[in-house]
Amino acid sequence: MTDSVRVTLEGSDESTSVRVYGDEGDVSTDDATFRFSIDGGGDGTADDGASAPSVDERTECDNPRYVAPLADVPSDGTLRCEARSGNRGTELILRRVGDDVSAWRNSCPHKPEVRLDPGSGAIVHDEQLVCHKHGARFECGDGICTAGPCRGDALDAIAVTVRDGSVYLTDERFESCHRFDEPSA
Ligand code: FES
Repeated sequence: MTDSVRVTLEGSDESTSVRVYGDEGDVSTDDATFRFSIDGGGDGTADDGASAPSVDERTECDNPRYVAPLADVPSDGTLRCEARSGNRGTELILRRVGDDVSAWRNSCPHKPEVRLDPGSGAIVHDEQLVCHKHGARFECGDGICTAGPCRGDALDAIAVTVRDGSVYLTDERFESCHRFDEPSA
């Protein structure tokens, strides 16, 4: 398989999706895991499995941990990305504060299947992230919920760093990262 595919698991009122780069993987929601594998030979192109996976060819940088230019990370919203470990993808959101960037898993502690950033950027109000579903508010530094139904809980922080005006993923749980809004090659 040379191209990625997006796999979406739809629940009653929410959906979870991941981008898959291998021939098998899984998608998990709160209470279910969907495992799948894809048989080859569907598109008529020669694919004997010998082609090496491309390394983030949609960015100007060869580093698979490269996320985005610092200037592309908003302070009044969030940039939505996907961190990958093997075939598993985890959505994350990034927000800039000055020359620094914080990142968290794109999931509300109140209901983990709810994305804080559904695609257009998470709500940032008074320097706090606000869940669009029930209004929980989270400190942008440590991700602690200060108000709402999950008060006292914290967002799952994901380690990133800024170097030479670019953001890189440094969290050891993941191997690579890509933006959802990156234009196709
Ligand atoms: S799902 Fe986020 S506050 Fe309820």
